[in-house]
Amino acid sequence: MRKTLSYDDVLLEPQYSNIASRKEVDISTTLGPDLTLTLPIIASPMDTISGFEMAQTISRMGGMAIIHRYMDIIEQCKIVTDIKNDGDSIVGAAIGTGDEAVIRAQALCAAGVDVLCVDVAHGHHELVRKTLSILRPKVEAHGVHLMAGNVATPDAVAALAAWGADSIRIGIGGGSICSTRIQTGHGMPTFQSVLDCAIAADAAGVKLIADGGIKNSGDIVKSFAAGADCVMLGSALAGTDECPGRIVSMNGQKYKEYRGMASAEAQLSWRGRTSSLEGVASMLPYRGSVVPILQQLDNGIRSGFSYSGARSMEEFMNKCKLLQQTPAGQLESSTHIKVRYG
Ligand code: XMP
Repeated sequence: MRKTLSYDDVLLEPQYSNIASRKEVDISTTLGPDLTLTLPIIASPMDTISGFEMAQTISRMGGMAIIHRYMDIIEQCKIVTDIKNDGDSIVGAAIGTGDEAVIRAQALCAAGVDVLCVDVAHGHHELVRKTLSILRPKVEAHGVHLMAGNVATPDAVAALAAWGADSIRIGIGGGSICSTRIQTGHGMPTFQSVLDCAIAADAAGVKLIADGGIKNSGDIVKSFAAGADCVMLGSALAGTDECPGRIVSMNGQKYKEYRGMASAEAQLSWRGRTSSLEGVASMLPYRGSVVPILQQLDNGIRSGFSYSGARSMEEFMNKCKLLQQTPAGQLESSTHIKVRYG
């Protein structure tokens, strides 16, 4: 059996740098001919993460949100139109598979969406093949980017690329709210999946999005070192003003809900019943606006590139050197002060 690595198992070797300021570093990523993000972060298509406010804010900061699909087609299209009317914004929207997904996709294309995301828990699946092969010629006319997932293996990347995807979400069961591995025994550490899939993605000419389990800007930088072109975030953006949902007060503290789309709570609200439960719901401490959080991530990625002496994504990917660390190294890598005064 082979060993697999998670984000906390690895580090990047610091290298000579002559970068004087983080401003010199360009962290933009290109996912397609007309799709460049100056902030390489995508907000996840979850009903507690990506609605109008998140899409508007993250787009203004150079990233993108994928509007979740757990609403009717008209509502989802209206959000897309409102975002596009907002200016130079880039926005994506999620769809499922099957006939409904094709109808939804056509409406979203007409509304002006930039990216369609075939959003399925197990993306290496016949239903995804059928949906992608129907959508591929249709999106061509609109110049819409086709994203699909989630998958975890090079075989799956090659398949989804052949079926028509332009970019692929990598990560099965690694999300903070996921219980897929507990329920099904299946999954793969997101870092290892990206590392494994990078060569297949290059060969097929598709872009990779690391998705699930990314906790901080350090993990984002490690994702790029593994070969991801962009990252997708849920919990790192959750609990903020821009996420859909109300602020709830409990014992004098403010919270917002963050839940897996396969949790009982989410399933009950989007289809009125539950089947296989592969996610959990949680209440996170309310964190105010997402803007300072995104600014911090942006700064952290720039610093990360500069520690490898790289001024751009391409230079970073060529230069970076990954290291595996021991459990003692992991302990040392986390803040480990024992006594605090005051
Ligand atoms: P983070 O760690 O950023 O993960 O909070 C977000 C990603 O988790 C995936 N996701 C799920 N996976 N059950 C799962 O196994 C679920 O209910 C679920 N909901 C979301 C998804 O890829 C998301 O971007």
